[in-house]
Amino acid sequence: MYRHIVNPQSTKGHINPEIQGHFSEHLGRCIYEGIFVGENSDIPNVNGMRTDVVEALKEMKIPVLRWPGGCFADEYHWMDGIGKKENRKKMINTNWGGVVEDNSFGTHEFMELCRQLGCKTYVNGNVGSGTVKEMSEWVEYMTFEGVSPMADLRKANGHEEAWNLDYFAVGNETWGCGGNMSPEYYSDLYRHYQTFVKNYNPDKKIKRLAVGPSDKDYAWTETLLKKCFDRSGSWNNAHGFMDGLTLHYYTLPYDWAKKGAATGFNEKEWYMTLRKTLFMEDYITGHSAIMDRYDPEKQIGLMVDEWGTWYDVEEGTNPGFLYQQNTIRDALVAGINLNIFNKHCDRVKMANIAQLVNVLQAVILTEGEKMIKTPTYYVFKMYSAHQDNELLESSIDTKKIGLEDEYMVPNLTESASIDKDGKIHLTITNLSLDEAADVESTLLGKSIKSVKGTIVTGKMDAHNTFDNPDAVKEEAFDKVSFENDTLKYSVPTCSVLHLEVTV
Ligand code: AHR
Repeated sequence: MYRHIVNPQSTKGHINPEIQGHFSEHLGRCIYEGIFVGENSDIPNVNGMRTDVVEALKEMKIPVLRWPGGCFADEYHWMDGIGKKENRKKMINTNWGGVVEDNSFGTHEFMELCRQLGCKTYVNGNVGSGTVKEMSEWVEYMTFEGVSPMADLRKANGHEEAWNLDYFAVGNETWGCGGNMSPEYYSDLYRHYQTFVKNYNPDKKIKRLAVGPSDKDYAWTETLLKKCFDRSGSWNNAHGFMDGLTLHYYTLPYDWAKKGAATGFNEKEWYMTLRKTLFMEDYITGHSAIMDRYDPEKQIGLMVDEWGTWYDVEEGTNPGFLYQQNTIRDALVAGINLNIFNKHCDRVKMANIAQLVNVLQAVILTEGEKMIKTPTYYVFKMYSAHQDNELLESSIDTKKIGLEDEYMVPNLTESASIDKDGKIHLTITNLSLDEAADVESTLLGKSIKSVKGTIVTGKMDAHNTFDNPDAVKEEAFDKVSFENDTLKYSVPTCSVLHLEVTV
C-alpha cells in the first residue's frame, strides 16, 4: 500500500493554465494539413482552420499557442506572410525538409486560429536573421490601436482592431539554430531587441521572453540573468528587461544519432524513456535555483516552451517532418511532466509541448480528412482540471522500479490541486509495466463526500490509428472507495489517473 498525503490547508502556488500550453511551427504537416487547409478545402473548415482539429483542441482547453517556430522563427520574415495570398513571397524552409513555404498562413491566420480556439497568443520573434526594425514593426502591426504606418497596414489588410499579444519571445535557441551565439553576445542582443518590443497598451502588457538554456546548460542561465535581469530596466517594464526565460528539454530514449522508435519498443526502452523524462525535475530545480538568486520574489517565469518525446520518424515519412506515433508511453511522459510543472508552479509559468499536430509528441494526428486524438491528448484533457487551481502540498510513497540501475524510476508520481469550488484534483501516474499500485490518499482534515475519476491506460505501446482511432482514450474510473478523509484505490500498470474529490 502506498500512502499519499494531501494537505488541503497548505497551498503552494497558482497553477497558470499556460503550464499546459502548446507549440505550432511551420514544420512538416503541423500548420499546413494539420491545422490550416484553406477556405476552399473539402475538409470542413472555418476561415481555413480545420473544424475537427479546432473543436478537439477547444474540448482539451488549450490555454496558449506558440508560433511560428522553433528554428523556423529565426528565418521567418513576417511581412512575407501578410496581404493578398497570391502576392505573398515563397521561401525555402531550410530547417525542415527544404520544402517551399508559401506563407499562406501568416499573422492574420495565426490570430484567427487563436480566436477560434479562445486561447492566449505567443509569437516568437526573429533575432537570428531579422532586424530590430522588423521585430519592432511586427509588434506595432499586431498591437497598436492608433494611427501609425504598421497599424494602418494592418487595417488595410482587413483587421481594424489590434490583437492581444500575450507573450513575445526575442529569438529561439540562439545558442543553436537561432544564431549559434554565446550567452554574452545574445544577452546584449536581448537587451537591445526587447527595448523595441513596445507595450502600446498599458492594460494588455506583452510578456517578453528571453531565450533560455537547453537541458542542463546552467552557465547560459547564469549569464542571461546576470546581464538581463535588471530591475532598474526600462521605464515601462515592471520586471526590468524580461518577464520570463525559456527552457527546452526533449525526451529521447537514446540520443540524437539514434533516438529510438515510437512504437514496437521493448521494456528497457520504456524505462529509459521515463527515466529521461524525469530529468525535467532536475533541470527545473537547477535553473530555478539560479533564478531564485536574481529574482527571489519570483517575478519572472521559467517557460518550458519546448518539451516532449522525440523519436525516429515513422518509416516512409519525410525525415525533415518529424512525424511520429504516440503511445501509452507518451501518455506517461505527458502525465509525469505535467505533474512536475504543477509542483514547480511557483516558477514555471508556461510550458509548451512540441508540437500541436503531426509533429513530435502531438496531441492530434491527421491523414487527409481523418483525425485522431493521441493518448497524450487525453492526458492533457484530463489535467485541464488543474488549470487555474491552487497547488496543494502533497507527497506519495514510492518504490524504485526498472530493469537496470541506470534506468530505475519511482513507480508513482503525483500532484494535487484545489479548484475555485473547493473540489480537490489528484493526478497520479503508475510507471510500472507489471505491478498495479494500491494507494490510500488522505486529504488531511477533510470529510470526503464523493469522488469521480477518469483514466488513460493500456499496454505499453497501445496507440490509436486511423483504422482504430479509439484503442486508447480517457475512460471512467470508479473503483474508488472512501471513508472520512481517505480514498482507497488501485492504480493499474501503465496508467495516468485523475480523481476529482468533493469534500
Ligand atoms: O520542435 C522542433 C525543433 O526543436 C524546434 O524548431 C527547435 O526550437 C528545437 O530544436
